[in-house]
Amino acid sequence: MDRRKFLSTATAAGVAVSPAIVSAQDKPALLGGTPAKKGRWPGWPVFDRKEEDELLGVLRSGKWYRGLGKLNVDRFEAAYAQLTGAKHCLATANGTSALLVSLNALGIQAGDEVILPPYTFVATVNVILMMNALPVFVDSDRESSQIDAGKIEAAITPRTKLIMPVHLGGSAADMDTILAIGKKHGIPVVEDACQAHLGEWRNRKVGTWGATGCFSFQASKNLNSGEGGAILTNDDEIVEKCYAFHNNSRGRKTEGYDFTYSGRGLNLRMTEFQGALLMAQMSRLQAQSKLREQNAQYLSSMLKEIGGVPPAKMYDGCTRNAYHLYMWRYQPEQFAGLSRAKFMKAMSAEGIPVSGGYSPLNKEPFIKKTIEGRGFRAAHPKESIEGWEERTRCPENDKLCAEALWLTQTMLLATRQDMELIAQAVRKIKKHANELAKA
Ligand SMILES: Cc1ncc(COP(=O)(O)O)c(C=O)c1O
Repeated sequence: MDRRKFLSTATAAGVAVSPAIVSAQDKPALLGGTPAKKGRWPGWPVFDRKEEDELLGVLRSGKWYRGLGKLNVDRFEAAYAQLTGAKHCLATANGTSALLVSLNALGIQAGDEVILPPYTFVATVNVILMMNALPVFVDSDRESSQIDAGKIEAAITPRTKLIMPVHLGGSAADMDTILAIGKKHGIPVVEDACQAHLGEWRNRKVGTWGATGCFSFQASKNLNSGEGGAILTNDDEIVEKCYAFHNNSRGRKTEGYDFTYSGRGLNLRMTEFQGALLMAQMSRLQAQSKLREQNAQYLSSMLKEIGGVPPAKMYDGCTRNAYHLYMWRYQPEQFAGLSRAKFMKAMSAEGIPVSGGYSPLNKEPFIKKTIEGRGFRAAHPKESIEGWEERTRCPENDKLCAEALWLTQTMLLATRQDMELIAQAVRKIKKHANELAKA
């Protein structure tokens, strides 16, 4: 029996436990106490013979690229469409290309404006910049870490051609409000669902609400093929435009070579290896997602009781959180002023790695430099460029970036007891916050 087990059994049975042991358990590890979590967190990726068989099958077939008939990428597209309830799925090389292909299919061009949140991965803004379109950041809702949908309408101008919400961390952006605004102004919506596999809005999968929904299967994602991406759409025309663009502007051909082109394009095709690997990984997705959800809900109930570490709010319409990240916030005033950096250091000493999340994307100097460049100046009115910084200030997001905490999705694949250890570590740190602040 290990010491922790001994302690819980002993105390439950009313057996006296040495005060020295109790005090080591109660004291933060950073102050010389015993770390709350000693073992490893679950590893990632998870695989077995299933993945090996799929990959070897492709290897031995000699058919490694899409374009040789109905093979693994087609198989994956059909399966992912069925899983999400989308009419069409198009697999792509990665999530960034899923977004880029969508923007092209929707005709986004130089001179257009695209609305997006500032609290997201850099790819969301990069694809907008690649089109020479102006990224218009709309402030975050600090409590949810999602775009503040209530502030979108005020950011719309005659140049606004797209709204691109992100379902950050796997929780859903407020799609009711976003879709209503899009409809009212005739502006399409592209969902960046790169972190939200199996997430739901009003019992329907995220990524199926907008003109397109984009997913990433990059190595850290809940569905993983090392690199990979997909576009979901219910629109027959959009999917063919997307297909052509991702295939160097060549449409679908079942046999022979096709040298007719529908416009400009790129090669952003998924490989057969990725498609096969995803088939195996997908067989684990539901069970893993359920476990993450159960653990996250349990952890949230404990953190709410502790106070000062609120879990990210989920909107009422978010009927399923995909939990790519466990997002919470840190309120130093409830920890005797202990800084977030020190809190994270103390958690790390407890054996619990915590990240501070993103920094404000709207303030990235490369974005300002890009839009002040020659291409943007030629395509956008002077006032749009000169007023951009002021227009895209996001004060709530600045605060969010200063107080955010994240746990990775892999930690949510641990045990229920591990969730208790996370809460235990936070309690210890809160109790000894004064000493920690001085240490
Ligand atoms: C919100 C978001 N958008 C886009 C991407 C880009 O996906 P990929 O890395 O597969 O290109 C990511 C990936 O991390 C993401 O988290």
